[in-house]
Amino acid sequence: MRILGIETSCDETGIAIYDRERGIVADTLYSQVSVHERYGGVVPELASRDHIRKTLPLIETTLNQAGLKARDLDGIAYTAGPGLVGALLVGALLGRSLAYGLDIPAIGVHHMEGHLLAALLEPLKPTLPFLALLVSGGHTLLVEVAALGVYRIIGQSIDDAVGEAFDKTAKLLGLPYPGGPALAQLAERGNPTRFHFPRPMLLDRADLDFSFSGLKTHAMVTYKGLVAKGEDTESTRADIAAAFQAAAIDTLVAKSKRALAQTGLKQLVVAGGVSANQYLRRTLEKETEFETFFPRLKYCTDNGAMIAYAGYLRLQNGEHSELTVGVKPRWPLSELKSIQSNLG
Ligand code: KG4
Ligand code: ZN
Repeated sequence: MRILGIETSCDETGIAIYDRERGIVADTLYSQVSVHERYGGVVPELASRDHIRKTLPLIETTLNQAGLKARDLDGIAYTAGPGLVGALLVGALLGRSLAYGLDIPAIGVHHMEGHLLAALLEPLKPTLPFLALLVSGGHTLLVEVAALGVYRIIGQSIDDAVGEAFDKTAKLLGLPYPGGPALAQLAERGNPTRFHFPRPMLLDRADLDFSFSGLKTHAMVTYKGLVAKGEDTESTRADIAAAFQAAAIDTLVAKSKRALAQTGLKQLVVAGGVSANQYLRRTLEKETEFETFFPRLKYCTDNGAMIAYAGYLRLQNGEHSELTVGVKPRWPLSELKSIQSNLG
């Protein structure tokens, strides 16, 4: 069984093919950085138009890379949400139409389930049940995973997602889009103890929710104060980046540990764009009370492989999408159906 995965929910066109026997056999990615960088962030209409230009040629490249023809495919998976509506529609319409033309089933995949399942593409896999920390540009979720497809959200951000806070703080410090990775890079050169930023909602609340908007404001006030004093140097910006990163990541780690303690779970899956953060990976890898599982770096940020794999699991579970193409810009993870699997 071979499934083509199409990811177009935001600013990356990701295409991959998952083969039941061989795993991911081809995987391509086109990033729209050059389209959006002059605007300092993703322009939704430009994202849709660029997906229209890039998706079909990238599918052809991916098939060539795998040495396959379209008729060798057994199903097509596309991201159906959450994400930018126009961008989602490009992948969904193309995926659905291709599947119709090839007379094979199509399946609309939940982007965040894709991120979560990407960790299972690694040779060392967690066993069910486990806890998942899903951290991207649009989501910060702590999810109790009782079975694949059975997701209970036990913590989430009440305002900005952690990736969004990274992006906004990066912009404030004058870093180019995409800000998150640039801020993380700058932070590696900074002194994280020069400024101490608050760990939001950690000591004052016993729950598992997050808030990152105040942290971003704290970074802004600190930075503007230093600019006013004529201290706007590269090393000051690096120190602010390091203080921000330490506060944001320490909060993610602390709440994950609290969630593990509350649920009694011993395994943590971390996925989504922010799971590429090296400080987060280093911090969690030091923990001995529980095991942490990450996707490889290229499957942390948006990619087609996670959609192909999630689509494979759902198609072999007997699900498929109707001929009517529907996308869901908002789509709670808790609405998904369980997947019968032999993971554990
Ligand atoms: O999963 P993703 O590629 O797209 C969404 O689904 O949103 O995540 C993108 C987010 C962005 O906010 C980006 O700044 C952040 O992940 N990100 C990082 C790093 N790499 C990507 N944040 C912190 N450190 C990184 N190394
Ligand atoms: Zn994503």
